[in-house]
Amino acid sequence: MTQTIVLNPALESLRSPCLLNHPIPQPSKPIKLGILASGSGSNFEAIAQAIAAHQLAAQVEVMVYNNPEAKALQRAQNHNIPAQLLNHRDYPSREALDRAIVEVFHRYGVELVVMAGWMRIVTPVLLNACPHVLNIHPSLLPSFKGIHAVEQALAAGVKITGCTVHWVVPELDSGPILIQAAVPVLPEDTADTLHARIQVQEHRIMVDAIALATAQLRAT
Ligand code: GRF
Repeated sequence: MTQTIVLNPALESLRSPCLLNHPIPQPSKPIKLGILASGSGSNFEAIAQAIAAHQLAAQVEVMVYNNPEAKALQRAQNHNIPAQLLNHRDYPSREALDRAIVEVFHRYGVELVVMAGWMRIVTPVLLNACPHVLNIHPSLLPSFKGIHAVEQALAAGVKITGCTVHWVVPELDSGPILIQAAVPVLPEDTADTLHARIQVQEHRIMVDAIALATAQLRAT
């Protein structure tokens, strides 16, 4: 039997990608982005499409990926964005990998780093050299940190979950929150169906978060 879920109107505000009462200022000069991606790269795609549609004043200078199979590579090629493979298996430590990432980002003049599905823990080596780093996580932080966040939400039986874009600090999934979006958990949800609906919201808040982060950086 199909069940129709009607959201309490009080929850409608949770659909909003960000609870800002003012528009996000668009910078006059595009911010130079460095993307870190490990897998499908659908968040990277959302960023690239928003830039191409002139909805985001930014330029992706380079995309770094750590997994030779990452679909993100094809997306970078489609958008004529330089892509650099830094396979973590080729480095003796997390710090060594981060040193290589820093070298690439500095070479491309990156101002803001975006972890768009980067499945590696970053170290102070990266954060000290590139202090402005965003991450996207598929839960309403501080709930369900770490891997399998969607499965964690299902197991906990929460009725609302979502996604978060936050500044990155050395502690995993713990930095200051920039934007969140809420997603209802439906009774028939599997991890795949719930993650798919979360990703629709991720693609919206990712773009808004970059605009917001840029405004914050330019104001300082
Ligand atoms: C997203 O769900 C993101 O929240 C998490 O990894 C996933 C990456 O998806 N960190 P994609 O590669 O951007 O499609």
